[in-house]
Amino acid sequence: MASSGSIPREFIDDLLLRVDIVDVINTRVPLKKKGREYSACCPFHNEKTPSFTVSPTKQFYHCFGCGAHGTAISFLMDYDHQDFVEAIETLAESIGVTVPREGGKAPSAAQRQRSKDLYTLMSDAGEFYQIKLKSSQKAIDYLQSRELSSDIIKQFKLGYAPDGWNVLEKQFSQNYKRYTRQQLLDSGLLIHNEENNKIYDRYRDRIMFPIHNRKGQVIGFGGRVLGDGLPKYINSPETSLFHKGSELYGFYEARKYTQKLERIVVVEGYMDVIALAQFGVSYAVATLGTATTQEHIKLLFRAVPEIIFCFDGDRAGREAAWRAVENTLPIMQDGKEIRFLFLPEGEDPDTQIRKNGKAGFEASFETAASLSDYFVDALLQRFNISSSEGKARFLDEASKLLKLMPESLVKEQLLEKLSRLTSVPVATIRTHKQITRADDEPDHEFSRLSNREVKKTAIRYAITLLLFKPDLVQFVENMEQIALSDLPGSDLLTTLIETIQETPHINAAALLERWRGTEFEAAFSSLMKWRPESDDQDILEAEFRDCLRRIEKNATVLKIEQLLHKERTEGLLDQEKRDLLELLNMR
Ligand code: GTP
Ligand code: MN
Repeated sequence: MASSGSIPREFIDDLLLRVDIVDVINTRVPLKKKGREYSACCPFHNEKTPSFTVSPTKQFYHCFGCGAHGTAISFLMDYDHQDFVEAIETLAESIGVTVPREGGKAPSAAQRQRSKDLYTLMSDAGEFYQIKLKSSQKAIDYLQSRELSSDIIKQFKLGYAPDGWNVLEKQFSQNYKRYTRQQLLDSGLLIHNEENNKIYDRYRDRIMFPIHNRKGQVIGFGGRVLGDGLPKYINSPETSLFHKGSELYGFYEARKYTQKLERIVVVEGYMDVIALAQFGVSYAVATLGTATTQEHIKLLFRAVPEIIFCFDGDRAGREAAWRAVENTLPIMQDGKEIRFLFLPEGEDPDTQIRKNGKAGFEASFETAASLSDYFVDALLQRFNISSSEGKARFLDEASKLLKLMPESLVKEQLLEKLSRLTSVPVATIRTHKQITRADDEPDHEFSRLSNREVKKTAIRYAITLLLFKPDLVQFVENMEQIALSDLPGSDLLTTLIETIQETPHINAAALLERWRGTEFEAAFSSLMKWRPESDDQDILEAEFRDCLRRIEKNATVLKIEQLLHKERTEGLLDQEKRDLLELLNMR
């Protein structure tokens, strides 16, 4: 069970030393040995000749076709759609150890028991509602009037909460005995009305939609009136199990019922998810009456590279789409795609798929707007760029948003588009309000590595060698000079050296895991792709020493250039003059 309390870093390091990525992948995707590495046809894209390789030395996989890459942890996340903690738990289980939790944050035995009870309670409630549906003709009639098949009702475990103020309460406290009133209140299934001090069932005479977490446990419900009453839907409140900002209705079902999940459609309603699934579009999810959060998008991007937002064409739908854009920009990376499909007035995915069928609905994806198209269109709706004042405000607003984006090809495309539209050069838009994120600057070049052919600089090659053989770190003598130099990537190399020195037996996979989610992640994983020419210890050592010498030399040259430049522009301080002389002599 996922529980709070973070997992100690040393445990993850150690775990990645003890499991073998070759075994982990081989049981899921059979591998063939090829020289020092293993290969297979890539499970993440369609191909006929294998370009997916697994390195036992680095405990890292990489596909030369689609660029998928990562550690045993990432593999489980991407292939089995597990989340980070689940992946660690799976690996730990495979070698028979339990995952420790850090500090006082680990749940106590009593807490664990409480949340276990709550899961059981929710699951029992789900079953109770399912049974009640079978005996309620009016609920069955309603679902029939919505043209839901009995298969889809079973798949989504729909139920019915009978009419009456205390039906669930009576059932659960009399027959089940296991649950206390407090538990029923904690689950959100009962409401305590403070005014008249009465306790009663939250859901009465409603169609019940159980909401599952990623493991398939029931964590909440949505309840719809059978007719036109209000409120149309009642959702579970936030509870210790249920957090709307990080859960998506239908995500569990999408993963369970879709053979190969390649994209996900985000829609607005429960009924939409279900109707789409009934017609074969099993990969739809809905937010739970909240806007799409960044957490939602991260979650989806871990499972698929493409998200299509399918919203109403009305004002509310457009606002929802814009919120999604704002929340996606900061985590947008190359290789990920979001698109927007706006439905005609008065239509929702439920009505659309019934009219057009699966093929028709999927064909409409072709017309969905790309992030950059939608971004620009939405801004053009707000600002009139035919006046220079409007143009300035348009660019102002655009820059504010672009600033949130990490460097990527998508960002560049967006900049080019804005430039064409306004006839303002890209460079000018870039410098306007400092569109480059401050934290991208030092390794600007690095953050874009993954999609380009990368020049083998000495620093990059040194990093590659260290990732391949961390114990080469013993040959580093001039750490300070590397750290103080302004060479691109020196901060990356310094961080790497320090980490290896602190944890001598760490392997490449564990190193990479340390930088998951940081600005270094992309750079390190792209350098993981490189292989040293040889794995002979002497050659590796010689190459590494050679890199260090070249780095030292480059650092000196750069420093000299900087000092000479300063001399020409502002003049040098006495100490700087002495430094310059010394550096020139050293050369
Ligand atoms: P149908 O009318 O049954 O087709 O429902 P729908 O799924 O098409 O829902 P609709 O488009 O009206 O609303 C979209 C989503 O917004 C719903 O699935 C709910 O999550 C949420 N929602 C709608 N009405 C209410 C409401 O009255 N209260 C709350 N809390 N949420 C609502
Ligand atoms: Mn609807």
